[in-house]
Amino acid sequence: MSGPGTTPASSPRYVLTLETTCDETAAAVVIDVPEVISSVVASQDALHERFGGVVPEIASRAHVERILPVIDEALAKAEVSLEDLSAIAVAHTPGLAGSLLVGLVAAKSLALALDIPLIAVDHLQAHVYAGRLAARRDIYPCVGLVVSGGHTSLFRCDSPLDFVHLGSTIDDAAGEAFDKVASMLSLSYPGGPSIERAARNGDGSRYAFPRSFIDDETRLDFSFSGLKTAVRYQLVGPGHADFAELELDEQQVADLAASFQEAVVDCLVAKASLALKQAGLNTLCVGGGVAANGRLRERLADEAMQSGFELIFPPMSLCTDNAAMGAIAIERLGRGETASLELDVRPGLVREPTAPTGG
Ligand code: KG4
Ligand code: ZN
Repeated sequence: MSGPGTTPASSPRYVLTLETTCDETAAAVVIDVPEVISSVVASQDALHERFGGVVPEIASRAHVERILPVIDEALAKAEVSLEDLSAIAVAHTPGLAGSLLVGLVAAKSLALALDIPLIAVDHLQAHVYAGRLAARRDIYPCVGLVVSGGHTSLFRCDSPLDFVHLGSTIDDAAGEAFDKVASMLSLSYPGGPSIERAARNGDGSRYAFPRSFIDDETRLDFSFSGLKTAVRYQLVGPGHADFAELELDEQQVADLAASFQEAVVDCLVAKASLALKQAGLNTLCVGGGVAANGRLRERLADEAMQSGFELIFPPMSLCTDNAAMGAIAIERLGRGETASLELDVRPGLVREPTAPTGG
């Protein structure tokens, strides 16, 4: 990491990027190499833990409390002052409306007060750009698989900013299913890491859970709600009135976790491979919190070796939500695509290509 004093002559443009799409409050300072100078993430996991999932109202309130300290910390770590900034970037789509609004209002206020451009960041494009940052070279065109607590989508990524939507979950996101199943198994929140840990000692073939659409080569969609329900029925079948009566031994939990994880991973591997084939591309970049999953990494690495495609995984810290991946703003700045102060939040996933300013 380098600050203004250590960066060479051709004075870089400093961009402050903000990320508040879900439950992490994050800010980063990036320069137009692109390179990340500082990155700060304030996690809200402890606030949502007892609910087994993100509570939108709690998330937006926590963003309000944290956004200014997080910005201050990112600037301080980068040894950059507000006056050094050339632009403010903010993830404005997709995400929780109340959460997105906190980041957007902060970004607009700073852009207005400092009289510098505002740049719109698409959170899903940013998740794929995390792979570009990690690879430190152009990775496009590629297929992007974004798999997190809120999203499970495949894109043909012609450039950092030109995405064509190929398919998505029709119900729960993969990470959401991890979180819900972890809660059924009395494992800690967030569910992904705790299911992965439990699964290490488990037999992934003990329970035959459903793999929706896996043999359907005509679609690149996912569905995880049937899988979640199948785990539930495995637990509270005849003879059990509810979860309170359940007595699971450690091996059962491990086998359920492993069998569930194997089903999710099978679907992700199958559809990512199909997307590469259909798009005629040879590079797969995986982003989002579930991309931290070791079993997914292992299975995709095997598949990449067998099928001969290039696989890009960002490091763990760039998989879960962060503002460093907002360095994609540098690409928009390069294209001269700044947003107006009319920019609004767009909570839903847009399946058509996004407008240049993200507006
Ligand atoms: O990208 P992210 O930080 O936030 C969203 O945009 O949703 O992803 C969070 C999700 C959670 O559902 C969490 O359980 C899941 O990513 N996750 C994992 C792992 N680490 C985090 N899922 C599976 N295995 C993991 N190791
Ligand atoms: Zn995300």
